[in-house]
Amino acid sequence: ALPEKGLVAWEAPSNIALVKYWGKHGLQLPANPSVSFTLSQATTKTAFAFEKKEAGPDFDLQFTFEGQAKLDFEPKIRQFFERAFPYLPFLKDYRWSISSSNSFPHSSGIASSASAMAAMALNMVSVERQADPSMSDQAFLQKASFLARLGSGSAARSISGPLMQWGADQNWPGSSDLFAAQVNTDLHPIFENYCDCILLIHQGKKGVSSTAGHSLMHGHSFATSRFEQARKHMGDIREILKSGDLEAFISLIELEALSLHAMMMSSATPYLLMLPGTVAVLQEVWAFRKETQIPLGFTLDAGANVHLLYPESNKEAVELFIDEKLVAYCENQQYIRDSVGKGAKPLEGEA
Ligand code: PMV
Repeated sequence: ALPEKGLVAWEAPSNIALVKYWGKHGLQLPANPSVSFTLSQATTKTAFAFEKKEAGPDFDLQFTFEGQAKLDFEPKIRQFFERAFPYLPFLKDYRWSISSSNSFPHSSGIASSASAMAAMALNMVSVERQADPSMSDQAFLQKASFLARLGSGSAARSISGPLMQWGADQNWPGSSDLFAAQVNTDLHPIFENYCDCILLIHQGKKGVSSTAGHSLMHGHSFATSRFEQARKHMGDIREILKSGDLEAFISLIELEALSLHAMMMSSATPYLLMLPGTVAVLQEVWAFRKETQIPLGFTLDAGANVHLLYPESNKEAVELFIDEKLVAYCENQQYIRDSVGKGAKPLEGEA
C-alpha cells in the first residue's frame, strides 16, 4: 500500500545532446532520435515531502526553489503533474511540498528543465515504488525516463549515463520514442571522463523558448531533410563512439550544433539565439584547433552558451586557452567546468 506520508529526494544531472532533438509531435514524441552525454556537475536536487489527504479535483502542491516561492515555474509543474497523472493516479491523493535547488548559477541560461524534470519524475516513481517494492531497477529507470519526457523532451535523457539515446532508431536496438535508455556498450575509452566546459555567454532568459522552436519545425521548409540528417548522424555517431575517431566526432557535433541553429534562422518566423560572443568563440575554437591540433570541439543548445567538448588528456591546454582567451566572452567571466557523468542519484532527503 502507499504510505501515509514520507519524503523522497533525487539529484539529477543536465545533459548535452551530440545529435539534437528538434521538432516534436503528439505528447512529447521526438521528430528524430537523439543521443547525449550525461553531465555530472550541473545538477538539480529536488525533494518531495508528501502527506495523504482527501482526493480532490486538483493537485495540491507547493513549490520552493532555493528556499523561495518561484511562481513562474509553478504552472510548468502543474502541467507536468497533469501529464503524469494518467500513469500515477495517486498524485491527487497527497499534498506535495516540493523543494528544489540547482548546482549552477540562477538563470545561467543552461538547460535546467532537463535536470529539473528528471529529478521530479524520479521522485514520483520513488513514491510509487514504495507501494511496489518488487519494481525492478530497470522498470524504475524506464518509467522515470518516460515521465521525465512528459515534462521536457530532453529530460528523458537525464536519468542514467554516461551516454543516453532517445527515439526509435534502427541503428539502436531496443530504442523507443517513449523513453530514453542508457547505451554504454563499446564506448571508446577516450570518451570516459570527457570534459564539457560550458561558457556562459549570456545568462538570462532567451528570446524564443524551446517550445516555440519545436513548433516552428511544423511545416518548416527544411524539416524533412533535417530529420533525415539527424537519422544519418545517429548511425555515424554510433560508429564514432566505438572507434574514438575524434576528428569525425568533432565534425559531426559541430555540424549538428550549427544545423540546429540553421533551423532557427530559416523558420517561418526566423530568429537567432547566437550572440556576437557565441560566434567569436566558435571562430576562436576553429583557430585554436588549426594551430594546436588539439581535439577541441563545440556544441550548442537552444541558446547562446557554448559547450566545449574535449578529452580529459587535453584538459590542461584547453583550460589555459579558456582562461587566456575565451573567458573574455563570458558574461561576468563565468563558465562551468563539467564532465561526463553516470546519471541521477537518490539523496537522503536534503535537497
Ligand atoms: O527538451 P526541450 O524541449 O527543452 O528541447 C531541447 C532541445 C535541445 O536541447 C536543443 C536539443 C536536445 O536534444 O537536447
